[in-house]
Amino acid sequence: MKDQKKLELITSIVIAVSNCALYSQEHSIVRSLAEKAKDIIDDLIGDNESLEVMIIDNDLVFDNNPLKNKTIHTGSFIKKIHRKGVDKIIFKKGLETAELLKLITEIADSSRTVSQSLHISTGSVEVRLGDLSSITGFTKDEVEKFRSDQVTNVKEVFGVVSRYKKLDISGLEDIVINFISAFRKEVNILNIMSPFKSYSEFTYTHAANVAVLTLFQAESLGIKGDLLHDIGIAALLHDVGKMFVSNDILEKIGKLDEDEWNEIKRHTLYGAKYLMGQADIPRIAVSVAFEHHLRYDCKGYPETKLLKTKQHICSQIVALSDGFDAGRAARPYKQGIETVDLLSFIRKSSGTLFNPVLVNNFVKNYSNTLKFQQ
Ligand SMILES: [Fe+2]
Ligand SMILES: [Fe+2]
Repeated sequence: MKDQKKLELITSIVIAVSNCALYSQEHSIVRSLAEKAKDIIDDLIGDNESLEVMIIDNDLVFDNNPLKNKTIHTGSFIKKIHRKGVDKIIFKKGLETAELLKLITEIADSSRTVSQSLHISTGSVEVRLGDLSSITGFTKDEVEKFRSDQVTNVKEVFGVVSRYKKLDISGLEDIVINFISAFRKEVNILNIMSPFKSYSEFTYTHAANVAVLTLFQAESLGIKGDLLHDIGIAALLHDVGKMFVSNDILEKIGKLDEDEWNEIKRHTLYGAKYLMGQADIPRIAVSVAFEHHLRYDCKGYPETKLLKTKQHICSQIVALSDGFDAGRAARPYKQGIETVDLLSFIRKSSGTLFNPVLVNNFVKNYSNTLKFQQ
């Protein structure tokens, strides 16, 4: 019975947040959902002094009792408040609807942080911003540590990838939050990109770099809020299908034969299929895994009956990041090329491999960063 109330509370808040983002906190739907949520909170507090809602390992925990039932709304609530760097909300006796409305507005607005009020306090677990929170002066060593920490985080998440295990979505969220925070702190994108170290590390550094380049593009295109986080996660996972391709093929030195090359190409299918089975992953990640080797001119792979249909814009953004980082790194089956040559390759591929609008945006912003660094 109480669990049902808790689910109703989360559902009311999530729907209020969505409506608030669409309309405003003055909208009657938002107000009536806030009032409903306040009544449920009063009811759940009962004779106690407060109600504590925590996120632990992607679960919602009410006053130390994990909520067993999960719905699309509980998942969305966890994602939304996690992305604010919040892991705990305490509602105190005497809560006013206006305070709840303020909280709802702050969750809905991607540019605002969640603040405290008389009857609502929030807390965050320090792991969210990782070591970056302590970086203010960005010494070379600190940025380097930040960069290698993110690659280690990617490695940890990818290390457990198997057809039978659930992907650690909160680990992925943390990496994306860390990169977004790094941009906010004006860390130069060129400093966050990981250099190529070894063949066996390539999978992880490449995933991290494609995420950095994708978030860099997406932010400069004005993408924010949930979509920014989702596209960051999709970028991290774009090549997850390679975890199902044999290392003998991935790390082969020398030319691949036709069968081996076809197996490499299948990572797009393996990745999309794997992500389809992962409930908490943004759906866009499935499209990106499937489409990131399709080209703007509708060539590329995998071959589909939908040829002549353009990729999703998020896949187009990730494809550009992928092309850039793949060219940047020395690969077992391709020698690395210089950044200037790489930018000219991207420019020459405008309209064929990549969307011209994205190419212009990328080249302009990346060149500015290069100038800034000189
Ligand atoms: Fe790929
Ligand atoms: Fe890739």
